[in-house]
Amino acid sequence: MSDELTLTVLLTADQVRDRVRELAAEINRSYPVGRDPHLVSVLKGGFVFLADLVRALDRPVTIDFVAVASYGTGTRSSGVITLTKDLEIGIADRDVLIVEDIVDTGQTLSWLLDSFEARHPRSLRTVSLLDKRSRRTVEVGIEHVGFTIEDRFVVGYGLDYAEQFRHLPYIAVLDQPPAVRDTGSPRR
Ligand code: IMP
Ligand code: MG
Repeated sequence: MSDELTLTVLLTADQVRDRVRELAAEINRSYPVGRDPHLVSVLKGGFVFLADLVRALDRPVTIDFVAVASYGTGTRSSGVITLTKDLEIGIADRDVLIVEDIVDTGQTLSWLLDSFEARHPRSLRTVSLLDKRSRRTVEVGIEHVGFTIEDRFVVGYGLDYAEQFRHLPYIAVLDQPPAVRDTGSPRR
C-alpha cells in the first residue's frame, strides 16, 4: 500500500471566495447597526477563514482567538476537550460570533458554546465554513454554514493533515482518512 497522499480539489479558491462573500452579507444582515459582532476564531484551522471573513464584512468588528485540544480514543473523538489558549478579551455583554473552519462530530463546538455561554455574552452564534453533518454525535446549532460536505477528510484553507496543507487557497479531499485521527494524539 502506498503512503503517498493524493489531493483532489473539492472547492476551488473561487468557490470559497464567493461563498465567504455571501456568508459575510448574511452575517451583516443579522447584526443590527450598533451591534457589531466580536469574532472568536478557533485556532489553528480557523485563521484563513477569519482573515477573509473580516475583510468581507463591511463594518467594524473585534476579534479574538481560542485554541482547543481534543483527544480521540478510537475512531471517534472522546469529547475530552481542553482550552490550550483562552480568550484575551472578556465576552460578557458582547455579540459573540464563533468562527469555525469545520464542524465534524460537533463535540468541539458544543463544548465551546457551553463554555462561552457561561460567560454571559449578549448573544452567541456560530459560522462554520464547512459542515460534515453526517458525522454529528452531538446536536449543535450553527447559524451560518458555508458548505455542507460529505464525510471525507479535507485539507487546505487553514485545515491541515499533520500540520500540512493549511496554506492551500482551495479545499481538497485527502485520498484516505488519515490514521492520525485515531491515535489518541491531539488532532489540531
Ligand atoms: P469535532 O469536535 O469532531 O466537530 O471536530 C472539529 C475539529 O476537528 C475541526 O475544527 C478540525 O480541527 C478537525 N477536523 C474535523 N474534520 C476535519 C477534516 O476533514 N480535515 C481537517 N480537520 C478536521
Ligand atoms: Mg477547528
